[in-house]
Amino acid sequence: MSAETVRVSPAWLGLREAADGAARAVDLVEQLRPHLPAGGGATIHDLGCGTGSMGRWLAPRLTGRQHWVLYDRDADLLAHAAATMPAGAADGAVVTVETRQRDVTRLDQADLAGASLITASALLDMLTADELERFVTTCARAGCPVLITISVIGRVDLRPADPYDAHIAGAFNAHQRRTTGGRRLLGPDAVGAAADAFTRLGMDVAVRPSPWLLDADQAALTGEWFRGWVAAAFEQQPGLALAAAGYARSRAAEATAGRLSVQVHHHDLMAWPR
Ligand SMILES: C[S@@+](CC[C@H](N)C(=O)[O-])C[C@H]1O[C@@H](n2cnc3c(N)ncnc32)[C@H](O)[C@@H]1O
Repeated sequence: MSAETVRVSPAWLGLREAADGAARAVDLVEQLRPHLPAGGGATIHDLGCGTGSMGRWLAPRLTGRQHWVLYDRDADLLAHAAATMPAGAADGAVVTVETRQRDVTRLDQADLAGASLITASALLDMLTADELERFVTTCARAGCPVLITISVIGRVDLRPADPYDAHIAGAFNAHQRRTTGGRRLLGPDAVGAAADAFTRLGMDVAVRPSPWLLDADQAALTGEWFRGWVAAAFEQQPGLALAAAGYARSRAAEATAGRLSVQVHHHDLMAWPR
């Protein structure tokens, strides 16, 4: 595989699944319905499925028979996803699953032939501009709607606010756009680039906000998110590690104690053939 392999932990995906589910823009699902086969029998390709969070969220919101084709480059995540997909749709119709261990930036038209819907979630920021272009082009050629949820856009709001928040956010966003293994990642620019590319390829595009709204009830996720956010910022800008060490410690304690509210802004995008 050409893409650098960064393993995503199933524990992290499990921790964030409820927040992702609450954040996704449900009105895009309503917009999607008329594009799906009227009598059921939809084939849905989920690209970069991880442990299968998108299928668990979407399959029970749709009616009629569904066949999900789950793609990831990580065999363990694929096995987890296949074992935990819901067995039934909203009306009890059967949901079946197959998995494909693949690089989703290297799919061709044959892979997606007959697709009724293509989905992805929390994926785009990990791609380079070339990979995104290939990904979007292959999706657009499939001639079906594409739903891409939970793409970071580089904005977070922390309450109570602290002057260091903006420094960490800037370094984190630079880390998201870093060059690693010879690949320059798009990070928070990816969802805008995808919207432009789908439009250029003749598809209609709708974009909706899908923020995580984290408060005391999600202290475990808030704490884990905060530690990852700060660690990436410090890796990108090592000078910050010394200057903001006290900030990082006291903020992490606030997060763990449920005294930190965080909004992590994302966008959901739907593209469909005109
Ligand atoms: C942040 S996780 C999101 C997983 C899942 N969609 C979700 O919402 O929980 C990104 C997933 O994309 C996969 N991935 C990233 N780049 C990929 C590529 N080029 N080809 C295949 N899978 C990829 C990772 O292995 C990981 O499972």
